[in-house]
Amino acid sequence: MRSVYVFNGPNLSRLGTREPDVYGAETFADLTALCRETGRELGLSVEVRQTDDEAEMLGWLHEAADGRVPVVLNPAAFTHYSYALRDAIAQRTAPLVEVHISNPAAREEFRHNSVVAAVATGTIAGFGLRSYVLALHAIAEISAE
Ligand code: DQA
Repeated sequence: MRSVYVFNGPNLSRLGTREPDVYGAETFADLTALCRETGRELGLSVEVRQTDDEAEMLGWLHEAADGRVPVVLNPAAFTHYSYALRDAIAQRTAPLVEVHISNPAAREEFRHNSVVAAVATGTIAGFGLRSYVLALHAIAEISAE
């Protein structure tokens, strides 16, 4: 079965309690279950991880590049300033879909710029947790080509 990683950046472990008006009432455990269930439907083996640590995220992206594993990535706040993350994503050897729960373009000015978007395969934002479901579908379709 094809493996896919779902990597989540800082503060996403706080889903459910973190600004529910922006990010919804569902928890990180709910997100993990949703991604795994979607993977089962699509015939993908989905592994979900979260870190608040930029270095750890870089290591995971290197691991994905070395293993040619597709990635769904919510870089969270790293999106807006981490050139190190951008450089790690540029090394990717398989599709990488940038996802956001909210629509950063409709929020504060500093969220309008993504320093990683240009090196991602594509971006899905603004659909709540469904952004991840759509990203997994995109990866399943691309991988089948
Ligand atoms: C986010 C949007 C980012 O601007 C923010 O820093 C996050 C979450 C989202 O999923 O909507 O932490 O990536």
